[in-house]
Amino acid sequence: MSIFLGFCRFANRSGLKIPHLRRKDVCETPTLGDFSKSQSFFERNSVEGTNRPEIYEEIVQTGDADRALFNLINIEKILILKIRFDTIALQLMTVNRDQITEVDLLTMTLDGEAVQFTEGETIYQVADRHRKEVPTLCYDDRLEAFGACRLCVVEVEGIRNPVASCTTKATDGMVVKTATEAIEKHRKTLLELVVSENRNVDVDELSGYASQEMKNLVDRYGARTGRFQGRKSGTSNTKDKNPFIVRDYENCISCYRCVRVCAEQEGDYAINVMNRGFDTQIITEFNQDLRDSECTFCGQCVQTCPTGALGDRKALRDVETPGELKKTRSICPYCGVGCSVDLLTKGDKLVGVQPAMDGPANEGALCIKGQFAFDFVQNADRLKKPLIRRDDGELHECEWNEALDAAAAGFAKVRDKFGRHAIYGVASGRAPHEAAYTMQKFIRAGFGTNYIDNCSRA
Ligand code: SF4
Ligand code: SF4
Ligand code: FES
Repeated sequence: MSIFLGFCRFANRSGLKIPHLRRKDVCETPTLGDFSKSQSFFERNSVEGTNRPEIYEEIVQTGDADRALFNLINIEKILILKIRFDTIALQLMTVNRDQITEVDLLTMTLDGEAVQFTEGETIYQVADRHRKEVPTLCYDDRLEAFGACRLCVVEVEGIRNPVASCTTKATDGMVVKTATEAIEKHRKTLLELVVSENRNVDVDELSGYASQEMKNLVDRYGARTGRFQGRKSGTSNTKDKNPFIVRDYENCISCYRCVRVCAEQEGDYAINVMNRGFDTQIITEFNQDLRDSECTFCGQCVQTCPTGALGDRKALRDVETPGELKKTRSICPYCGVGCSVDLLTKGDKLVGVQPAMDGPANEGALCIKGQFAFDFVQNADRLKKPLIRRDDGELHECEWNEALDAAAAGFAKVRDKFGRHAIYGVASGRAPHEAAYTMQKFIRAGFGTNYIDNCSRA
């Protein structure tokens, strides 16, 4: 008997340890709308013995996907259905029952409600899963928790001082309150202190993916009080003229997300921290410019910075461009990895690219090309019409029919004179599957040769 396991988070919650399933695979709880949109998928993909219709029915009736799936957990094989809610993209993974180990479910009290978790989860992870809006600034769920900003503090019964929920493991029987009056006051004061140090809270959203995090929290807590005045830390690096990254450290709050993402995600260790306290400064080795350092300009530090201290220099060119900023999910057009990106547009203009944090292939990572090399899309030099070399030896614009006829005549001439193996096709590594398929068909069926390859290998 098989079952559809609606989303990966359920595995954790159900006390199952499933191979290849990491915590970051955990998805948001789907809404009924999401499920109804995916019903046709349920219907189309029948597997022998699968009781998906019952699951679907129960989800619809109870509105509780967790419970519906939990009730059907006594199984031999699980099909894990990963649901991406922006596009309702569905991804299947099969796991055999004997690969699954059951782990103990522990219980804690979260804001008066008994909730379950598995050993190793932090208080923040459990709270986040239960939709508690615990504020964070130094947290990025792709990185090791750091515990620097203390905004995520919660009250734990039996512990006198508030504890940082992002670094404190949940334990069985723990009683936690996430938003008492004292805790919220504490958070507001922390934010007032942080804000007092920064030159500018209202950075443009084109700065980067996470650039509005601090601004949003400051507004949520009404922390623009100006109550604290004093020394400021961080000196903006205006001499670094690299074309991609603004380094405006007067807006830096020393959360070290940039340093950590560079080390933990990119494996690059291009930046680090110099000094302590008010003299803290993010630098490269020997404080040289980014382009002279180990930096690969992947842009991950920019996208994780919660204040816009690190900004996307190319996107920020269009701050004044009129129009509402729109994000459209797409796939990077460069290599065959297939990184998910969000294209930033204003009107008809592509103004920037941000990595998709939930992209299955990249999980928020991009390379320099995917992140910053998008100017070609609207470059004036881009060919819009085919060119044909005429008798004068020069290239001239022509219509597509004429160009295709000329190309066909050229191929036929080569084949007739030198034979079919004189033709060798190299498909673009940037082409989608369909185009690659058509290309090999063209070479194989059209010319009768198997001389076909892909530029990624050729
Ligand atoms: S530059 Fe941004 S990400 Fe880096 S430490 Fe400062 S605020 Fe944090
Ligand atoms: S762009 Fe990438 S490699 Fe360069 S400092 Fe930032 S995270 Fe590190
Ligand atoms: S998010 Fe927990 S200390 Fe910063």
